[in-house]
Amino acid sequence: MTSTAEAHAGTETVLEVRDLVKHYPLTQGVVLRRQVGAVKAVDGVSFALGAGETLGIVGESGCGKSTVARMLVHLEEPTGGRITFKGEDITQLSGRAMKAVRRNIQMVFQDPYTSLNPRMTVGDIIGEPFEIHPEVAPKGSRRRKVQDLLDVVGLNPEYINRYPHQFSGGQRQRIGIARGLALQPEVIVADEPVSALDVSVQAQVINLMERLQGEFGLSYVFIAHDLSIVRHISDRVAVMYLGKIVETGTDTEIYDHPTHPYTQALLSAVPLPDPAARERRERILLQGDVPSPANPPSGCHFRTRCWKAQDICAREEPPLAVPAWLSDAGPTAHPSACHFAEEKRIVPPPPGPGGGGPGAGSRPRTGGGPGAGAGGSGQPE
Ligand SMILES: Nc1ncnc2c1ncn2[C@@H]1O[C@H](COP(=O)(O)OP(=O)(O)OP(=O)(O)O)[C@@H](O)[C@H]1O
Ligand code: SF4
Ligand SMILES: [Mg+2]
Repeated sequence: MTSTAEAHAGTETVLEVRDLVKHYPLTQGVVLRRQVGAVKAVDGVSFALGAGETLGIVGESGCGKSTVARMLVHLEEPTGGRITFKGEDITQLSGRAMKAVRRNIQMVFQDPYTSLNPRMTVGDIIGEPFEIHPEVAPKGSRRRKVQDLLDVVGLNPEYINRYPHQFSGGQRQRIGIARGLALQPEVIVADEPVSALDVSVQAQVINLMERLQGEFGLSYVFIAHDLSIVRHISDRVAVMYLGKIVETGTDTEIYDHPTHPYTQALLSAVPLPDPAARERRERILLQGDVPSPANPPSGCHFRTRCWKAQDICAREEPPLAVPAWLSDAGPTAHPSACHFAEEKRIVPPPPGPGGGGPGAGSRPRTGGGPGAGAGGSGQPE
């Protein structure tokens, strides 16, 4: 089953994922390990990422976001499907060819407290990728390169000999970003890069990532579980549930014209700073827990928690496509994997002209971000 999230028309596609699958075997027995099932962590995900574009991937814990991220940077082998970088199938590569491609797709991890080796200096952490790719920075030039990277992410180049514990959470994430930039990649896969940070610091790190994107022409896959964070940085958003993309579109399509009940439920839980908007917003409380990916529901995976479920939802898996009855809805029509997809604006626009949507509008290209006002200038936290 294919679920698609196409890159913006007109932009060169740098990364393309088709029918990506990751099933972890469930085994029984100590000596003779028998496979008795599989955890379907990722179950047929497709998307394309354009040059200089940001694709936000959101969904609750356990829906497969990190598994997708790990496959993109080749920390995990896919069970099925294809990942292409600039048209080249990288799932089939090995040896030197794989090493060359991996250089171009780097990862920034969620937790800046555990992802940096506490016994290494910041200089060694940021410069470590040069050991594997000496062609990017020959030995004599490495210290200078690392200091340049510290400067680029807003840290004092003189901190090069300090250890991770001497930095705050936000500064550590800057170190993680500097390390991700070291090999001059074209794509950065950021797996919840700000989730472990305070809201005010989140804004600073997101602003930094946006600035770096402009400066270096980077493409981002930006993963988060909170739709409010993703809106500020994403051009397009893919919503995941139990290993599949259930709805995808531009930030405006997803935030202001959501058609999948799961997206609508996620939006109804987004924190809204404006009390009047909070008042107007419809609350959707989902029943029950996310089912186990080892035994997902038949048909639509969301049906056990969906208030609109009908018999067909248990029998037939809805394809991720623009529903026929919405295809004439105009410019906001976008793919949604629901038999009964219909637009439902969770936060109605305020009365009068110029009404906005949930949160504080779409992607600010020049500063701003979650907890607006905290980002950009001053001493990074
Ligand atoms: N190595 C593994 N072996 C077996 N199951 C795994 C493994 N790694 C992940 N899983 C399972 O795959 C599913 C998806 O996990 P994943 O970490 O990708 O989710 P996630 O969306 O990143 O969640 P979170 O928001 O909590 O980070 C989960 O049910 C998880 O328990
Ligand atoms: S297909 Fe059915 S169960 Fe799934 S989201 Fe749509 S209405 Fe709900
Ligand atoms: Mg994760």
